[in-house]
Amino acid sequence: MLVLGIESSCDETGLALYDSERGLLAHALHSQIALHAEYGGVVPELASRDHIRRVVPLLRQVVATAGVAPADIDAIAYTQGPGLAGALLVGCAFAEALAFALNKLTLPLHHLEGHLLSPLLSADPPEFPFVALLVSGGHSQLMRITGVGEYETLGETLDDAAGEAFDKSAKLLGLPYPGGAALSTLAELGTSGVFELPRPLLHSGNLNFSFSGLKTAVLNLVRQRDNPDDQFKADVARAFQDAIVDVLVRKSLKALKETGLKRLVVAGGVGANKQLRQRLNSEIQQRGWRVHYPELEFCTDNGAMIALAGTLRLQAGKSVATANGAFSVKPRWPLAELFNAKNST
Ligand code: KG4
Ligand code: ZN
Repeated sequence: MLVLGIESSCDETGLALYDSERGLLAHALHSQIALHAEYGGVVPELASRDHIRRVVPLLRQVVATAGVAPADIDAIAYTQGPGLAGALLVGCAFAEALAFALNKLTLPLHHLEGHLLSPLLSADPPEFPFVALLVSGGHSQLMRITGVGEYETLGETLDDAAGEAFDKSAKLLGLPYPGGAALSTLAELGTSGVFELPRPLLHSGNLNFSFSGLKTAVLNLVRQRDNPDDQFKADVARAFQDAIVDVLVRKSLKALKETGLKRLVVAGGVGANKQLRQRLNSEIQQRGWRVHYPELEFCTDNGAMIALAGTLRLQAGKSVATANGAFSVKPRWPLAELFNAKNST
């Protein structure tokens, strides 16, 4: 079975072909970071227009790389939500039109399901069940994953997402959008302990997060300095990263302990963070547990995770929709609605 995956929920156009027997055959991505950088954030209208420009050439690219014909595709999976309405509509309209022309199935998917299952693309995939720490630009949650389509929310952010906190703090430090990776590089030049930032909700007794106060703490530090030099900025970046990594690691360990599971999967863009990986690796190894990450290229948005999620859902007999030409997207789509997830906190 050959599944085409299309991701267009935000500022990356990603297409991929996943074969249920042979695995990932091809994937191609166009990032719009340069397009939005001068505005300091994603401009939705520009994002939609760029998705329109990129989607056909990217399809041609993956089909050529995989050495298949469009008619060989059995189903077309695409991100139906959550995300930017116009950007989602491009992927949805393209997927539905192509499926109509080829007389194939469409699989409208939840973006986070793609992230949650993305570690299964790696050479050493995790077995079910596992705890997933999903930390992206728009989401931060801990989930219990029992199988494909069987997800339970254990805890989530009450305000900003982890990636959002990285990006907002980076902006306060004068770094270009999206600042997560740049802040992390800057933090490597800083010294731990020069500034102490709060660890929000660390002792809340549940698995929820709150990151908006951290960003405010960074703002307060920056405001106190008239002419912040490079070392000051690096020390603030370090303090921010130490705090957020500490909370993410300790809550992940708590989730493992509470569920009795011994496998952690980290997904979403913040999962690329080096310090987070180092801390998790050492804490988890000490306990004899295992931690899995998606390949770095599949941490942030991409088409491969959507093609994979589509294939797995199809194989599991979940949510198979036929192409009916309906262009319907879900810019706001609570995870709980799709998965009937129980919130145990
Ligand atoms: O998963 P993703 O592509 O977006 C959403 O689906 O929301 O993640 C993007 C987020 C951005 O906030 C970006 O700054 C952050 O992931 N990010 C990082 C790193 N690389 C990307 N945050 C911290 N450290 C990194 N190395
Ligand atoms: Zn994402």
